[in-house]
Amino acid sequence: MKFISKTLLALSLMLSATSLCRAEKVTVSTKGTSLVLEATKGEHLRIVYFGKALSDRDASLLTESGFRAYDAYPVYGHGNITMDALSVTLPDGSMALELVLDSYTRRDIHNPSNGYNAPEDAVLTTFVLKDKVHPVTVNVNYKAYKDVDMIETWTEILNGTKGTVTLRKFDSGYLPIRRGEVWASHFTGTWANEASLVEEELRPGTLKIENKDGVRNAQTSRAEIMFSLDGKPTENSGDVIGAALCYSGNYLLEVVTNDTDYHHFTAGINPDNSSYPLKKGETFTTPELALTFSSEGLSGASRNFHRWARAHKLAHGDKERKILLNSWEGVYFNINEPTMDKMMADIAMMGGELFVMDDGWFGVKYPRKTDNSSLGDWQVDENKLPHGIQWLVDAADSHKIKFGIWIEPEMTNSVSELYEKHPDWVINAPGREVSTGRGGTQLVLDLSNPAVQDFAFGIVDELMTKYPGIDYIKWDANMSIQSHGSNYLPKDEQSRLNIEYHRGFANVCDRIRAKYPDLTIQACASGGGRANYGVLPWFDEFWVSDNTDALQRIYMQWGTSYFFPSIAMASHISTVPNHTNMRVTPLKFRIDVAMSGRLGMELQPKDMSEAEIKFCQKAISEYKEVRPTIQFGDLYRLLSPYENKGLASLMYCDESKDRAVFFWWKTEHFYDQHLPRVKMAGLDPDRVYTVREIDKLSDVSLPFEGKSFTGKFLMENGLDIPSYPDNYMEKMRLQGYSSHVLVLEAR
Ligand code: GLA
Repeated sequence: MKFISKTLLALSLMLSATSLCRAEKVTVSTKGTSLVLEATKGEHLRIVYFGKALSDRDASLLTESGFRAYDAYPVYGHGNITMDALSVTLPDGSMALELVLDSYTRRDIHNPSNGYNAPEDAVLTTFVLKDKVHPVTVNVNYKAYKDVDMIETWTEILNGTKGTVTLRKFDSGYLPIRRGEVWASHFTGTWANEASLVEEELRPGTLKIENKDGVRNAQTSRAEIMFSLDGKPTENSGDVIGAALCYSGNYLLEVVTNDTDYHHFTAGINPDNSSYPLKKGETFTTPELALTFSSEGLSGASRNFHRWARAHKLAHGDKERKILLNSWEGVYFNINEPTMDKMMADIAMMGGELFVMDDGWFGVKYPRKTDNSSLGDWQVDENKLPHGIQWLVDAADSHKIKFGIWIEPEMTNSVSELYEKHPDWVINAPGREVSTGRGGTQLVLDLSNPAVQDFAFGIVDELMTKYPGIDYIKWDANMSIQSHGSNYLPKDEQSRLNIEYHRGFANVCDRIRAKYPDLTIQACASGGGRANYGVLPWFDEFWVSDNTDALQRIYMQWGTSYFFPSIAMASHISTVPNHTNMRVTPLKFRIDVAMSGRLGMELQPKDMSEAEIKFCQKAISEYKEVRPTIQFGDLYRLLSPYENKGLASLMYCDESKDRAVFFWWKTEHFYDQHLPRVKMAGLDPDRVYTVREIDKLSDVSLPFEGKSFTGKFLMENGLDIPSYPDNYMEKMRLQGYSSHVLVLEAR
């Protein structure tokens, strides 16, 4: 055993000679948090506390002081009827387990950078639990990061029996949450309305959050939840636990509230239709469940997730993102050389740094003209692009920007050369007609099959080998697994399909990243369908939604920001009427919303007026100036659009608190509406900040422009922002869509 402190060394020595009647305490800690477990050999491993960091003395007194302890990994079948994280059928048909502690180890982890994630320094504590009767072992792991307040937990289930153990539920982790007025914040949604916030007080019964899509696991519900422990959720005060399951596939999060003093929370792979046959001698490793605690409200928990994401869970989380133009909403499938070249020239002229050619560039026998053919046939359509991809890469180079390209590697269409050649590569229930998706012909490729994995890897590998100048890939995935069946998996192991698909996906992503660590890759899945920590480590960012309407984006980006940092949130200025909900908003409003994330554009610049081009040019240059604060700063959400006060507001502050960027968007439009004054947060109370507005519509200045205020004043009072522009006609023209972006610079 390796230990990090003398106290722990003492604990471990005691462990080997432990008395069975005295509970030993083991604390898993980050700088700001403690997870305290009762770990006595031969007894159940129990969680007694998770919250703000405790001294060793206080931690040691918890049980004696009446703090309740619950099994750290509750199992089904013997003495536990509340909630199980693990349930199995053993080779003899029996269904009972009872796990007791055998030993535990603790070791430092120093992982160097893999080329796209930062180095990792953490302490891993592993508790080895064994069933009292059968040779089934469960390792319960807790990885505590040294640089951020985040603890990851996951398990390894080892089958030491002589037969197959069927896993029927196999969660990543469990946490008891003390009752009181506990509220849950989680997300629902659909295509074009992702990450819609749900807030509810936990009441007796079971709250279930789950995904069964097979591919797009963040489109409807999301694998993340926050618990506000002090009543109705508040942004910048109150105790909050945040939990995110890091798994790219189907998941199940459950909160059981019964007659005990606690809410019982588990999260893991969704066991529905996925019972797993664990063969003799095999080990099943569950995905990580990331846990954080903050006493600075929801925003505090978000900041913990954002820091952890930028440092460890997002490719290149320490690198500024380029400002790009994506061709989708501008031209859809109507790609051709002169259009692409002109779009590149236009974004370069506006100050952008990257052009991404979206769907529609491929297909020889079946050229991709709309969404009903060609996926899988990743050869360039020479009718559209006679000089091929290299010509485009060179053209981008001549405009002094980078070039990116769209692909959808996990998919095909029944109308494609790939499907003609490999009909057995698609996922479909055997003996049944194929069940198709988008365009009436889309099909999901069977990533459980290593040959399909090679094919998917080969798409990226071939593009990057032939055209090493490609800087960015948009990786899309627009269909769910809607027919259960693999031609690759054995007939009696079809229940592994959902899990094997994601093992295959991980394998492909690992191979791509090993060979192309510098490539920028966006995760897209019909919009925000892959905003998830199981996907992100290989990706730089995700597309928040196909809905680019600025007003609805305020809500979607608000929800997305609970767990994901702005640097990962692709947020584009698009045209009006908006292509999903037909809303017309002013360009300034669209820019001000897009600027709060990773700024880009999604329109046809040639349709813009000269004045609009100039306005965007100025906005892009201003964004570049404050980009480090927006992309790396600490987020403070101030006023939620969900509060229906007619306003939404948030700000980013540099860690040094030298500079902050404040966003203010009107969300409702009523004549004579009186808006609240927004108190700021995250500033240094003792420093003086000068206020400057960017992305200004005219030379008319806000009354506080250029004036300096203490951080204390700004946080206690905020600034009085006029509801409308001064000019009455302007006010009517804009229909009230008013917004402001303020830069606060400390003297
Ligand atoms: C999906 C994506 C869009 C776009 C289209 C292309 O819908 O979410 O951004 O790439 O596919 O077909």
